[in-house]
Amino acid sequence: MKPDSVYITTPIYYVNDKPHIGHAYTTVLADVLARTERLFGRDTWFLTGTDEHGQKVQEAAAKLGVTPQEHVDRTVQRFLEAWKRLEIRNDDFIRTTELRHKLIVQEILQDLYDRGEIYRDEYDGWYCVPDERFFTDKDLAEGRCPLCGREVQRVREANYFFRMSRYQDWLVEYIQTHPEFIQPDFRRNETLGFLRKPLQDLCISRPKSRLAWGIELPFDADYVTYVWFDALVNYISAIGYRRDDAQFARRWPAIHLIGKDILTTHTVYWPCMLKAMGLEMPRTVFAHGWWLSGSTKMSKSLGNVVNPMDMMERYGVDPFRYFLMAEMAMGQDATFTEDAFIRRYNADLANDLGNLLNRVVSMVGKYCGGRLPAPAPGAFESGPAADLLAQAQAAAAGMKTSLDTFSLHAGVAQVIEVVRATNKFIEAQQPWSQARAADPAPLHTTLYAAAESLRICAGLLMPLMPGKMTELRAALGMENPMTVNPDELSKAEVLPPGTEVAPPGALFPRIEAPVPGPSDATAPAADAPKPAADKKAPPPGTIGNPEGVITYDEFAKVQLRTAKIMGAEAIEGAVKLLKLNVLMGEERRQIVAGIALYYKPEELIGKTVVVVSNLAPIKLRGVESQGMLLAASKGERLRLVTVDGDLSSGAVVK
Ligand code: ME8
Ligand code: MG
Repeated sequence: MKPDSVYITTPIYYVNDKPHIGHAYTTVLADVLARTERLFGRDTWFLTGTDEHGQKVQEAAAKLGVTPQEHVDRTVQRFLEAWKRLEIRNDDFIRTTELRHKLIVQEILQDLYDRGEIYRDEYDGWYCVPDERFFTDKDLAEGRCPLCGREVQRVREANYFFRMSRYQDWLVEYIQTHPEFIQPDFRRNETLGFLRKPLQDLCISRPKSRLAWGIELPFDADYVTYVWFDALVNYISAIGYRRDDAQFARRWPAIHLIGKDILTTHTVYWPCMLKAMGLEMPRTVFAHGWWLSGSTKMSKSLGNVVNPMDMMERYGVDPFRYFLMAEMAMGQDATFTEDAFIRRYNADLANDLGNLLNRVVSMVGKYCGGRLPAPAPGAFESGPAADLLAQAQAAAAGMKTSLDTFSLHAGVAQVIEVVRATNKFIEAQQPWSQARAADPAPLHTTLYAAAESLRICAGLLMPLMPGKMTELRAALGMENPMTVNPDELSKAEVLPPGTEVAPPGALFPRIEAPVPGPSDATAPAADAPKPAADKKAPPPGTIGNPEGVITYDEFAKVQLRTAKIMGAEAIEGAVKLLKLNVLMGEERRQIVAGIALYYKPEELIGKTVVVVSNLAPIKLRGVESQGMLLAASKGERLRLVTVDGDLSSGAVVK
């Protein structure tokens, strides 16, 4: 591993699709990581691109009456434009229809074939067209594709196979002895789980009679290459594998950023392919979670269905990039709503960061004639100004660490903490009172220290918001606002006293539009027009008012939220009850539940359950219970209601 060289990749996206928030997330993440690595002086290379072969492209082109190449030449523009709009600064963009890629795929195939790593055999099984994946009878989920649930086709034909099975034991051992290889940890376990079943050889060809749009096998012109075998090679064809040894040695191995949907291809197929080629494994495959859009039906009725890409148009590229990075804990799922976007924008950017800049420049204007004052000598050796700067410098170190631990969101949160601390510092020092004193030194130190702290924060946030942070640094009078020098992040007294600062203005104007969001859905504002169902009239679609029917408003009073069970214990003298400790977002609660006959305490830890969160607390057997769990029971059985898939705790259930 070359510690001073970093090679970051995104998946190459299917060129047929329109870029959406998911693609935007991985690409912005890669861009921010690459910019941050560069900021800290590492030799960085960032690759993205498009996956342009396969059945879907062939079919779409046929429908439009154009050649597949014409089709992809057109659709690739959408990605190129989106990345330009999002300020993505990739070093290269690879398309799998480029000659530089196709030739390398063919050379690799020929080499593996010559060395007996690829053989011809009869194949009989199932094929899912949208996923472009083969399955055996056992793989199917109730006769359908186990990945997407769609119909599969029966396929029987001769094909070429890569001897992947022979690498199974080696791969398990490699994964176990290289914890940095697959991250986060729970994804590593997922791959190891997959590898507990015998690994099959991989079918790497498609007969042209069925699919012509692909890279021709060099040893059999009746076949093209399976898209995944073709696509994964992009990561090495783009950096000079077999063409430019110096460039390849400088870049490889990569950090692959992917979504959790393509974990197996990247942590099983790809390592086996690399091993057969005699190449080093990727440094890390990091699989992030999914952006979810919440309950579409409910959102539609509230009129808050948003295309996240529209959000970028509406509120600007930098806030959009910031939101994507700050809102999603790397590795976990996150929900995109306009409401959440506005909340975070107003809290972090408008109230904290934008406001801090405005305070600093307006006070420098008011008390110091618009020029940065000089701090008192020794002000950064000890005392509150020194403490503030030490906190800012620690955030710089934290940002660097967050790169290596794949927790950028935590690095960003630490910077926003410094912004908050700087606002608090101003409130504690009270420059408006200091300005009335005879000695100007304390006032000057306060304003200068706040400007210095802001300078460091802006430098650290530059990779996320290059446009806005350049503006911010220019407002502080920095000479070269676009270029952050890494040394300046660990130093105090970088801004030259006497520098002219900008007049006040709003860097991040508050977004005032109250957008209906999930919280509004469960607790309608007092002055909101009441839905028709609230009147005495029955809900639409019901005749009369049958017993047991409740109105929308009645239901809306019940607040349901997800919670993670962190602890569970028996309650003395109450055989049916368990005392649970749950985490609901940031909040911890104690809940007493009558489930002791159905669950052992240790079975419950880590489960995400659904809690009625606005129930008045009650005491059960002398123990306070702050909420109620939902459970389903029939006869002798009782099972807790849980959430399908991973979702962080505190999510609103609707
Ligand atoms: O799979 N949330 O391409 P693809 C977060 N061509 N990320 C998401 C997402 C979501 N809801 N939806 C998509 C392919 N993504 C292959 C890859 S690589 C050699 C070949 C992101 O267009 C995420 O990075 O389906 C995911 O892995 C990728 O888009 C899938 O893009
Ligand atoms: Mg996909």
